[in-house]
Amino acid sequence: MHRDASPRRYLMCPPAHFRVTYSINPWMDPAKPVDLRLALTQWEDLRDRYLSLGHTVELLEPQPGLPDMVFAANGATVVDGRVLGARFAYPERIAEAALHRAWFLDHGFTDVKEPDHVNEGEGDFAVTASYLLAGRGFRSSPLSHPEAQEFFGRPVIGLDLVDPRYYHLDTALSVLDEAADEVVYYPGAFSPGSQAVLRRLFPNALLAGEQDAAALGLNAVSDGRHVLLPQAAVGLFDPLRDRGYEPIGMDLSELLKGGGSVKCCTQELRPAPAATR
Ligand code: ARG
Repeated sequence: MHRDASPRRYLMCPPAHFRVTYSINPWMDPAKPVDLRLALTQWEDLRDRYLSLGHTVELLEPQPGLPDMVFAANGATVVDGRVLGARFAYPERIAEAALHRAWFLDHGFTDVKEPDHVNEGEGDFAVTASYLLAGRGFRSSPLSHPEAQEFFGRPVIGLDLVDPRYYHLDTALSVLDEAADEVVYYPGAFSPGSQAVLRRLFPNALLAGEQDAAALGLNAVSDGRHVLLPQAAVGLFDPLRDRGYEPIGMDLSELLKGGGSVKCCTQELRPAPAATR
């Protein structure tokens, strides 16, 4: 099957101040040293890869004292050019939300909402043609789901995350082709009921195994054809190719020490639908 890529616009934040000084997910061990130069090089490789694929990358200015800002996916959710801001669960990251909102207001986005309930942006929200998939259990409040549904006017499907290693939806599920509602996920990250919901909505989904999930292989970004994912998730490459995708392995080993990889570093700015006459 032939897959077409479509040009995307992403928001990223260089890991200039990246560190692991606290632990808010099981991947983070402040005792483990981080190689900041390597983190920067790995992040630049990801940015350059997007650029070489023809995508646009916008940059958010990193701030000292906010070491997790590199995980730009968490700062907002943008659908149809409308911006639902984030509200972080842990005090260490709270200040990031206002920096994201300010960026959008400075860059011509007029519809920017500061949310009432905790949501960690695209960490827990994923967009398909039919739905807004929404994770809960570790970070985003279940109350953020109706809030997002009302704001975007898209049906929200709440999904219960049960394994602390997969604390955000984007560590357990990735949208491969939003037009075709095609996803890949690791069933073990979800409650039995949520697994049944996923089977019902996405009967043809690609299922990831435990080893690829543990390599954070679900923390991937697809443009409809190219799927950028952690290179250690070796078991996903052939199944992706079998479906016509082109997997591109990335090494983000330093950022993995913060509990994030490709997707966490990448917020997608989905434009308003083109005006029709
Ligand atoms: N250290 C960050 C945190 O725990 C990692 C966030 C990863 N981002 C993501 N979209 N899953 O909040």
